[in-house]
Amino acid sequence: MAAFLRVLALAFLAVLAGSGVGGQKKKEMVLSEKVNQLMEWASKRSVIRLNGDKFRRLIKAPPRNYSVIVMFTALQPHRQCVVCKQADEEYQILANSWRYSSAFTNRIFFAMVDFDEGSDVFQMLNMNSAPTFINFPPKGKPKKGDTYELQVRGFAAEQLARWVADRTDVNIRVIRPPNYAGPLMLGLLLAVIGGLVYLRRSNLDFLYNKTGWAFAALVSKLCCNHFVSSFLLRIPLPTFLITWPILCMHLL
Ligand SMILES: *[C@@H]1O[C@H](CO)[C@@H](O)[C@H](O)[C@H]1NC(C)=O
Repeated sequence: MAAFLRVLALAFLAVLAGSGVGGQKKKEMVLSEKVNQLMEWASKRSVIRLNGDKFRRLIKAPPRNYSVIVMFTALQPHRQCVVCKQADEEYQILANSWRYSSAFTNRIFFAMVDFDEGSDVFQMLNMNSAPTFINFPPKGKPKKGDTYELQVRGFAAEQLARWVADRTDVNIRVIRPPNYAGPLMLGLLLAVIGGLVYLRRSNLDFLYNKTGWAFAALVSKLCCNHFVSSFLLRIPLPTFLITWPILCMHLL
């Protein structure tokens, strides 16, 4: 009887140990499946789009050994979120800089949830404003600093990169696609003025022409507005509020 009990106890222990090892193995498999899935998506587009199901499976549920930066946003035109669109452009620049960087690893992924594809996620996280950036760390829930302070820091890719480095120790050098619009406009303007001066070189009276100057003032004001709106994306709001009047005052 004692021998039988001992065998039974041993068998019981073996089953316990077996399930422990099996659980560990299964966890490992789930994890590598998740990482593979994310890597596959990341190779297709630098910002992974998530709906509610994908969010729960890949970000909410353990196991995880990667950070995910998620932009919660509302990009459908009927949501009329202008800031969402501008923030999205900056976020894409950041994610692209990471994707094409030589330091790219599976330690961190960039993702987004659009309100119209995952309103359940917004509800689950009790979120009522967009855009919002949250870092989901490899272990546990996001802490206070894992929500990006958009109001304070603005949404320039460089600022986002600094926050990402703070939260995850992954340093991303932001590489912007060159913007030719500004120099092109200036070149065009100079060419037009040059052309005018050349054509009217025998008679430069038009320099005293009021309409001409009004036109020039208008054009330079438009340029200024363009400059200011592209500038807004690059600097934090307080700095912007100080610089903007100074920049445009002389043109008003
Ligand atoms: C996370 O775990 C998976 C599966 O074990 C592994 O392939 C991957 O390299 C790990 N990632 C990191 C950043 O350690």
